[in-house]
Amino acid sequence: MPGISASPGQLASAAALPVSRPADGIPITLTINGTRRQLAVQPWTTLLDLLREELNLTGTKKGCDHGQCGACTVLLDGQRINSCLALAVTKDGAEVTTIEGLAKADGSLHPLQEAFVEHDAFQCGYCTPGQICSAVGLLREGHAHNADEIRELMSGNICRCGAYPNIVAAIEQVRQDGGAA
Ligand code: FES
Ligand code: FES
Repeated sequence: MPGISASPGQLASAAALPVSRPADGIPITLTINGTRRQLAVQPWTTLLDLLREELNLTGTKKGCDHGQCGACTVLLDGQRINSCLALAVTKDGAEVTTIEGLAKADGSLHPLQEAFVEHDAFQCGYCTPGQICSAVGLLREGHAHNADEIRELMSGNICRCGAYPNIVAAIEQVRQDGGAA
């Protein structure tokens, strides 16, 4: 190609480099909702896209895909993260919990799921999985001691329906009940 040149030595050393990106993906292991999965992922695949597009865990939502809305929040090793900002290949060995993994094996809902229902803390529901996963992480963090602090620490989760008062009320109730998260 005009304008680009390489010495024979450079070409030889480039040809000797090991292939680091197999066509079928890079092998990783994730424990997702309690099940250990061996996966092959492309280096550019986000955790969000892996969950939704390849594992059919569509409870986790894609809103902005830019870390701005919180719809994609999941728990990674117990901590809330925006899965749209996490490359799956960097999370090898991690434990992931999505909204599908919060209920108990007998089908009974997580206390935060029950509280969201009881307080009518949603309208369209699109933000709700992220809100609930974020709330689980929030209560584990232990930094919220009242409704104002919940409001502040949940500010990364946007609700376009404006269900905020009910969302905060639901989380505050679980916090007062002992924060079973
Ligand atoms: S989709 Fe990840 S923060 Fe909006
Ligand atoms: S319930 Fe519709 S976006 Fe939150």
